[in-house]
Amino acid sequence: MGYAFKRQLARVALFAHFIGLTLCLGTIFTNIMIERHTASGSLEMLSLGRDLVTLSSHNLIQTGFLIMVFTGILVTLLRYGIRAPLWAWIKLGLSAVVLILVIFALDPASSVATEWARWSVEHGQLAPQYLNSVARAGRYGVIVLALLLVTTFVAIWKPTRLLFRATQERRSAVSHSS
Ligand code: HEM
Repeated sequence: MGYAFKRQLARVALFAHFIGLTLCLGTIFTNIMIERHTASGSLEMLSLGRDLVTLSSHNLIQTGFLIMVFTGILVTLLRYGIRAPLWAWIKLGLSAVVLILVIFALDPASSVATEWARWSVEHGQLAPQYLNSVARAGRYGVIVLALLLVTTFVAIWKPTRLLFRATQERRSAVSHSS
């Protein structure tokens, strides 16, 4: 593959990486707002809120996240090959943890809360299990959001062993000259 073509492809993939990031984080914050807004309304409103949150989580947040992971790996391979810098491995590891948490904890807990909200509308009273299940889904949601923000922080900071070594060398050069 020619160098110019690789560079252009990496740029397009990085653009898609940012689209994925916007889709993912933007929808998470929208969902927080929907939940806040519908929680204090009628049972129908509560259930509608849960339906919207579940729908957008499946269709927008998860799609955005997958776009981000695939394009991130593509940019890394195009720029560095298999010998990727440390920060790219950290991001990959954090993304894997997020994916596992979403599949095995957040998604099931969120679906249960949505089911209890529907049950509440059908029976005309708030299900006693609803508050607990929504709190559990909320806890997992906070952990996932925190991990995504840590990953964003790593993306911007880009820690590398080389950076650490460069700092050490600069420090020892300063101490030798003084
Ligand atoms: C939760 C997942 C992720 C988030 C929130 C995220 C976030 C970001 C952000 C904010 C940037 C811009 C950094 C900058 O330009 O200074 C970025 C760039 C980048 N990300 Fe990700 N990323 C994620 C997953 C990944 C994965 C899994 C990989 C690959 C292993 C990856 C590889 C890259 C690369 C190569 C860049 C370009 C860095 C550069 O321009 O020097 N990302 N990412």
